[in-house]
Amino acid sequence: MQSRVVPLEEGEEPTPINRTNQSKPSTLRPIRVLVLFLVLCIAVSIISIHTIRYFGINSVVTTAKSTFRPCYEEPRSLEQWITPPSNLMHNMTDKELLWRASLVPRIKKYPFQRVRKIAFMFLTKGPLPLAPIWERFLKGHEGFYSIYVHSLPSFQANFPPSSVFYRRQIPSQVSEWGRMSMCDAERRLLANALLDISNEWFILLSESCIPVYNFSVIYRYVMKSRYSYMGAFDDHGPFGRGRYNLNMAPEVHINQWRKGSQWFEVNRNLAINIVEDTIFYPKFEQFCRPACYVDEHYFPTMLTIRAGNLLANRSITWVDWSRGGAHPATFGRSDITKEFFKRILEGHNCTYNHGTSSICFLFARKFAPSTLQPLLQLLPKLLAF
Ligand SMILES: *[C@@H]1O[C@H](CO)[C@@H](O)[C@H](O)[C@H]1NC(C)=O
Ligand SMILES: *[C@@H]1O[C@H](CO)[C@@H](O)[C@H](O)[C@H]1NC(C)=O
Ligand SMILES: *[C@@H]1O[C@H](CO)[C@@H](O)[C@H](O)[C@H]1NC(C)=O
Ligand SMILES: *[C@@H]1O[C@H](CO)[C@@H](O)[C@H](O)[C@H]1NC(C)=O
Repeated sequence: MQSRVVPLEEGEEPTPINRTNQSKPSTLRPIRVLVLFLVLCIAVSIISIHTIRYFGINSVVTTAKSTFRPCYEEPRSLEQWITPPSNLMHNMTDKELLWRASLVPRIKKYPFQRVRKIAFMFLTKGPLPLAPIWERFLKGHEGFYSIYVHSLPSFQANFPPSSVFYRRQIPSQVSEWGRMSMCDAERRLLANALLDISNEWFILLSESCIPVYNFSVIYRYVMKSRYSYMGAFDDHGPFGRGRYNLNMAPEVHINQWRKGSQWFEVNRNLAINIVEDTIFYPKFEQFCRPACYVDEHYFPTMLTIRAGNLLANRSITWVDWSRGGAHPATFGRSDITKEFFKRILEGHNCTYNHGTSSICFLFARKFAPSTLQPLLQLLPKLLAF
């Protein structure tokens, strides 16, 4: 500021002062005083006009350069901090995105009516063959959910504007099963979903997942739960502790090592724990490589250490391992029967908060694209949605 003001005063003032010094002495003192006074007045007005112009133009130029906004800005309101971005596309790098997503309000009481939403995060290769089921499931629950889709970067989605998936694709990168790039994709989904301050619960799904209860039941189940549904168990066998690498100490001890299914539900606090992590990430990146499948260990282990008391330690996504092999069963058209859903929905008891519940799974996988038609016929009747 000072450097701007000083040259102006120095530049403008000498001219009138020099001119008055040059005028010859005269007996007409009152006139001299009057002239001097007038000259001073003019000098002052010139200086002020110049000052206004200088600062006025200067501020317009800076605004235009930095934000491309007109010189008169709308007054800032709370809306701009709590309204989710209307366009999910952005050019932030992962580093920038994770930093932005880790910003947390310190005052815990929201000064506005916050309707908590479930963020459904789809980790896919490309198309969503079972999308019509999700459309049906979500119908009528607008305002209580949001959708995020991570797919191969080459995939061009073409959902119609009426679809819940329309323009819900986030900037994505190639991710490989069992590698850190898979966890990167999951963190990217969480970070993008965290940008909407109303998202309270974050559910990771794949293109072969379906819901097995209606929206009201699922929303209530998640909302009333004291725990988040991250599968995390201490497997003493070769595919559990056997994958632990001693180099992970002291950040991770072998008795903290956990294994769990990739498909989770976490609340906002745990989601922030995941995106802000810089302590465990490098250890897993470096020391959990195939045959250590990092997407089965990183989040379960890291969250057990950071916030183990908030985890239910079980998954809410049903999957069938009974057929054996390295991959769970994929169901086709002929599998879709009432009896099949009885098997998923009944015959389980699990802990829920401090009691037991017969509702143990809210989602199920893996369903082939061919199951779409039979599912569309059966599910709405069976689950009332
Ligand atoms: C994003 O776009 C802005 C404006 O076009 C540019 O200044 C910035 O460098 C870009 N950032 C990245 C990470 O590409
Ligand atoms: C899940 O496991 C952690 C320790 O790994 C434990 O502290 C927590 O109480 C368990 N959660 C439930 C619901 O039992
Ligand atoms: C679940 O619990 C109920 C009541 O406690 C019991 O009647 C039922 O047999 C149990 N089901 C299973 C599969 O354990
Ligand atoms: C959701 O399903 C439950 C039972 O499964 C049923 O009682 C409820 O009416 C259904 N909700 C809606 C909105 O259809």
